[in-house]
Amino acid sequence: MTVTIVGSQLGDEGKGALVDLWGGDADVVARYQGGDNAGHTVVEDGDEYKLSLVPSGAVRDKIGVLGNGCVVNPKTLFEEIDDLRDRGLEPDVRVARRAHVIMPYHRVLDGIEEEAKSDSDLDAGTTGRGIGPTYEDKAGRRGIRVGDLLDPEVLRDRLEYVVPQKRALAEDVFGVDAGDAFDVDAVFEEYRAIGERFADESMTVNAGEFLGSRVDDGESVLFEGAQGTSIDIDHGIYPYVTSSNPTAGGAATGTGVGPTVVGRGEVVGIVKAYLSRVGTGPLPTELTGDDEELADYIREKGGEFGTVTGRPRRIGWLDVPMLRHAARANGFTGLAVNHIDVLAGLDEVQVGHSYDLDGEELFTMPATTERWGRCEPNLREFEPWPEVDWSAVADEGYGAIPDAAQAYLDYLAEEVGAPVYAVGVGPDRAQTIELTNPFQA
Ligand code: GDP
Ligand code: IMO
Ligand code: MG
Repeated sequence: MTVTIVGSQLGDEGKGALVDLWGGDADVVARYQGGDNAGHTVVEDGDEYKLSLVPSGAVRDKIGVLGNGCVVNPKTLFEEIDDLRDRGLEPDVRVARRAHVIMPYHRVLDGIEEEAKSDSDLDAGTTGRGIGPTYEDKAGRRGIRVGDLLDPEVLRDRLEYVVPQKRALAEDVFGVDAGDAFDVDAVFEEYRAIGERFADESMTVNAGEFLGSRVDDGESVLFEGAQGTSIDIDHGIYPYVTSSNPTAGGAATGTGVGPTVVGRGEVVGIVKAYLSRVGTGPLPTELTGDDEELADYIREKGGEFGTVTGRPRRIGWLDVPMLRHAARANGFTGLAVNHIDVLAGLDEVQVGHSYDLDGEELFTMPATTERWGRCEPNLREFEPWPEVDWSAVADEGYGAIPDAAQAYLDYLAEEVGAPVYAVGVGPDRAQTIELTNPFQA
């Protein structure tokens, strides 16, 4: 049995909280795409963990797998594992030998290219982690894979081919001084040693075989999506997207189990009750102008500052066409709706029910970002709900959620066409109200 957790909006929907909640019932938690651009928060009894690469099941002592669809910065991974060990956890992380490695030159090039694009407003506001350049090299068949780090000869050959090209790109195309990040010998020595640590700690696996055999044995696997549907490279607001497929199909290609395995399981869309956005590009329901104060209020109350970069997140009303698009692209079987508490006590609660584009009413997202940017949301007003003691509500269960918030949740489930499995009323594990456990659905 598998459960796939997918962000249904623009990332930061609170995926970590649900992976942590349902990870308790899983044997293995596997990431299938992305890298340390992700920042997933787990709060257990007030203790907060911010995880970029270690799958969020670590807080539950579950085996974590970084699938072949991930891009792995080994330095971040080891730092994160060491930090978690310092905090008394024993993370057991296995890394796919087919996963690609984020190399020092990828991070440098990420910054250089963003800077170059900014003159024409094409920069995505990346996290600067080298994600895009690494996936570019994967598709260009010049990437370095985790398995290559284990074989110094292969590593050396690959680096001798690729590094001079990257150096030329930095120096001749972008006119930037290339440093040690573009030096074959320096990179080789550092990454050969990293390969040795991977080998010494027996951390690498054939992810497809590892996960497939567990599924065959009847174990439960939770696939932890990073980012979100609207920043998916295919289904998102290109070019203001990440370079991987957070959508549910990625769980198959990014781990090496078949789509039938993923499709036989549950696919749960994680929804933030409003929108937050940490990058650039259009955002039709964004709270700007006269609504700036309201956006500030929600940002502060919801702690809407990037987990990875600390940047203030842009805030908007829920975009329902975006959710209809996500439901189709992912085939959601259920939803988890977070941050209901953050909207409590407001004078008004609205959602973008549909868009108006050149006089036509649209119920889902247009395929080009330019058209999306011209959409005017048709706002629908909801009765606001009061501020209450959310921990008490969480203890009592779904029935204790204020009626107006329940009406909001009913509307959402109806429009998206999937039932609500869980409602987040605060960041702590104990503040997620479960209606249906997808492992028992
Ligand atoms: P992820 O990337 O999808 O895992 O989400 P992030 O961890 O980047 O951002 C979500 C933030 O909201 C974190 O600080 C969570 O602790 C917090 N959070 C999650 N669910 C809720 C909720 O229902 N209410 C509130 N107030 N905070 C939540
Ligand atoms: P989690 O998993 C929100 C955004 C960046 C930028 C674009 C490309 O925590 O939800 P990248 O560094 O991936 O090349 O940046 O994608 N972005 C995220 N936004 N949450 C994330 O992850 C994100 N990961 C990347 O801000 O617009
Ligand atoms: Mg995040």
